[in-house]
Amino acid sequence: MTKILVIHGPNLQLLGRREPSIYGRATLPQINRELTRLARKLKVALTFLQSNHEGELVEAIGRSGKVYRGILINPAAYTHTSVAIRDALEAVGLPVVEVHLSNIYAREAFRHTSVIAPVARGQISGFGTESYTLGLTALVGLLKKSR
Ligand code: DQA
Repeated sequence: MTKILVIHGPNLQLLGRREPSIYGRATLPQINRELTRLARKLKVALTFLQSNHEGELVEAIGRSGKVYRGILINPAAYTHTSVAIRDALEAVGLPVVEVHLSNIYAREAFRHTSVIAPVARGQISGFGTESYTLGLTALVGLLKKSR
């Protein structure tokens, strides 16, 4: 079965309690359950990783090429800062879809730049939990077309 790596960046373990007016009330386990349900319908298998450590994310991405066919990632704050994560995604060469719960372009200016977007096939921002399900659907669509 097609395997997809789902990466949640820093502070996303706090979802549900963290600024619910911005990020909603869904917790990370709830989001992962929703993705698992969708993955069953799309006939793909998901592996989830949440980390607050840039190096751990870089290493996981670096190892992902042999196992996974694509990466769904919410890089969280690293979206705006991490050349290391961007370079790891570029190096591994898998199709990447970037997602954000909030609309990063409607927030502070420092969130308007994603260093990840240029190495992603596309970005979905602003739809809460649905950003993830839309992102997974888009990623699986890309993989089917490339087969
Ligand atoms: C986020 C947006 C980022 O700017 C922020 O640092 C996050 C979450 C989102 O999902 O809306 O932690 O990626």
